[in-house]
Amino acid sequence: MAGFIGSHLAERLLSEGHQVLGIDCFLDYYPRSLKERNLESVRTARGFRLIEGDLNLLPLEELVADRQWIFHEAAQPGVRSSWGTGFSTYVRANIEATQRLLEASNNARGLERFVFASSSSVYGNARELPVTEAAQPLPISPYGVTKLTSERLCLVYAEAFQLPALCLRYFTVYGPRQRPDMAFHRFGRALIRGEEIEIYGDGQQTRDFTFVSDVVDANLQVAQSATAPGVFNIGGGSSVSIAQAIGTMESISGRKAKIRYHERARGDVADTAADTSRAAAAFGYAPRVRLADGLRAQLDFLEQLYPTGS
Ligand code: UGA
Repeated sequence: MAGFIGSHLAERLLSEGHQVLGIDCFLDYYPRSLKERNLESVRTARGFRLIEGDLNLLPLEELVADRQWIFHEAAQPGVRSSWGTGFSTYVRANIEATQRLLEASNNARGLERFVFASSSSVYGNARELPVTEAAQPLPISPYGVTKLTSERLCLVYAEAFQLPALCLRYFTVYGPRQRPDMAFHRFGRALIRGEEIEIYGDGQQTRDFTFVSDVVDANLQVAQSATAPGVFNIGGGSSVSIAQAIGTMESISGRKAKIRYHERARGDVADTAADTSRAAAAFGYAPRVRLADGLRAQLDFLEQLYPTGS
């Protein structure tokens, strides 16, 4: 829960008066100091407790007992680093940990919702955009395969044991605290430092960028609804190219980007766009933050994280 989305979700839950038990094993995919920083505001909040440990090792039955909602945001993320020997970490952190959490949740008294953080990467290069949940998922990265398998596990447990499991397919989430391997974090840092922005491919790939508070809204909406188990797209409402997004960052920051082009990354999909009508109908999801406003908030955050000159 110390990651990007989990920390925002915990903050919101606490601000609405809920108690939160966070679990994180602090995988070393990016510096722990950033995750500690994400936790600053919740650490001292009333009703918050953090357990440092691995979902594959912790006594999960005890931890999930008497919980009303489980938000499963824990994962080894990242599309581009899921090739090669690193894949075993993805299997363990994504598939095995999810199965273990599902087993434990199965017996949890009083559990109303099990919400799984899935990804647009399950679709691969969808034939038709905007993509609906009826499209056949055909991931093109090992990471996408682990997310799809985890989703399937959630639905298997829902079917076999009536576990109230719902999978939210997030589309490229951005905003303050975004992971440092992701595009906007890297672009913003490069702009602030006057370094080169590296674009993988020609910059014409498009993404349905989703601001983190919209994703948090979706989690709370689905948790409080009576939605039946299933999968739901959670997108930002419009798709833009990487090149356009950099242009917006330039105008917000008043800085000129220096760009270097690289080969397109393996496993990277060409375009994403979410049809979110299923989530809208089921639990009232509607993205609210426009890209320019979300990017402004993210750039403000990055200016503080990387004061000029550091
Ligand atoms: C992101 C997350 O990293 C995944 O964990 C998540 O599952 C996925 O979104 C999703 O849910 O949709 P991605 O779309 O690759 O994956 O997001 P970014 O890392 O922000 O990359 C966006 C695009 O910018 C990609 O085409 C990438 O190749 C490109 N990029 C990224 C660059 O051109 N340069 C960079 O320095 C970084």
